[in-house]
Amino acid sequence: MKTLLRGRVLSFHADPSETADNHRYIEDGAVVIDGGRISAVGDYAALRAEGLREIDHRPHLILPGFIDPHIHFPQVQVIASWGAQLLDWLNGYTFPAESRFADESHAIRMANAFLDLLIDHGTTTASAFCSVHPQSADALFAAAEARGMAMVAGKVMMDRNAPESLSDTPQRGYDETKALIARWHGRGRLRYAISPRFAITSTPEQMQAAGALADEHPGLHVQTHLSENRDEIDYTLSLYPGARDYLDVYDGYGLLGPHSLMGHAIHLSPREVARMAETGTRAIHCPTSNMFLGSGLLDAEGLRASGVPLGVATDVGAGTSYSMLQTLDAAYKAAQLRGCKLHPLAAFHWATRGNAIALGLEDRIGTLEPGRDADLVVLDARATPAMAMRLETVETLAEELFLLQTLGDDRAIAETYVAGRPMKSRPGRCGGAFW
Ligand code: GUN
Ligand code: ZN
Repeated sequence: MKTLLRGRVLSFHADPSETADNHRYIEDGAVVIDGGRISAVGDYAALRAEGLREIDHRPHLILPGFIDPHIHFPQVQVIASWGAQLLDWLNGYTFPAESRFADESHAIRMANAFLDLLIDHGTTTASAFCSVHPQSADALFAAAEARGMAMVAGKVMMDRNAPESLSDTPQRGYDETKALIARWHGRGRLRYAISPRFAITSTPEQMQAAGALADEHPGLHVQTHLSENRDEIDYTLSLYPGARDYLDVYDGYGLLGPHSLMGHAIHLSPREVARMAETGTRAIHCPTSNMFLGSGLLDAEGLRASGVPLGVATDVGAGTSYSMLQTLDAAYKAAQLRGCKLHPLAAFHWATRGNAIALGLEDRIGTLEPGRDADLVVLDARATPAMAMRLETVETLAEELFLLQTLGDDRAIAETYVAGRPMKSRPGRCGGAFW
């Protein structure tokens, strides 16, 4: 049965930082959903019809669901860990927590909690790192499939500089990844991402295996980390003395390209920037994480001006919120610290269509258009007393969006639709409870 969602509809068709004609806003709008897809978008008066089930979301905004292109699902119990920068944080908090994912029942419980947290925060697609254990990827893919979510994920490959319990080998990482690709990639809305964790935790032999996997499966995402922290960079260059710079390590194994997602990419040389632009390699800005771990401030505007495609992500558990609204707030503040301004229209484009482009999935998600998957978020700018008071003086759509990103979080998510189904309020769920 077709369903009509009524509300204030907003979708971007171009990047507001590049093009004046960039969005469509319909004050009394409607999105018609048919079998998990959007079948029509327009004025409510034009689309209302006999026999259509109607859900009235007025006065809320209806946007494409948020997309988070860099997040770690085994870090649900790592977020908010005190007092460390990257390498100590990994060794002190993250690796012990990820070791627990050898236990399948723990992985299943965390996968369900993680996806419900994403839904509660309005995120409908993510590119997620799993732990080294294949059962962690199985748990996440199964939980995403049960919810009908478009999820990109992969088990991390790591064969050195980590506890024994978190280490595979070049052959085992290759074999397990290969089996997971066969099991999950292309099944429904699921996609596999080849995931060498970062240069420090992979030997050259394992990097070569990751490159072989990318070669054997063209079009699959590759996700990893790049130039997040100064000590990380120094250590990486000592482990790969033949590399010109950090990016060159990945380049040497054929791991760059439009499907490659480089988390952080903060401290880059001009050569690395030019090479990322030349190869279409994506940089993923992780602003809450970059500030939480004291990693540094990304020159997002400089990278964009140099032609590097840019996503924006939470990076939970070094990131401090699952909310893409809070992530946009942090991106705004990070830009301020560098003397730049992130406009709210550009920010909301970034978290929707911009991240869909970063993932190469813009033909399916990130916009509200007939034929696209019906992944949507309903935003309530009156969600808290502080928001409601401020809203009284808001006059423009851009001001309302800025209020949402500055003061909003999961409380501002009135509903999240995944493939046309309301998921935040679905029966059997009670506000983020673990399954
Ligand atoms: N570099 C390698 N692994 C990680 C991780 O889990 N989080 C962050 N922020 N950086 C990393
Ligand atoms: Zn990360």
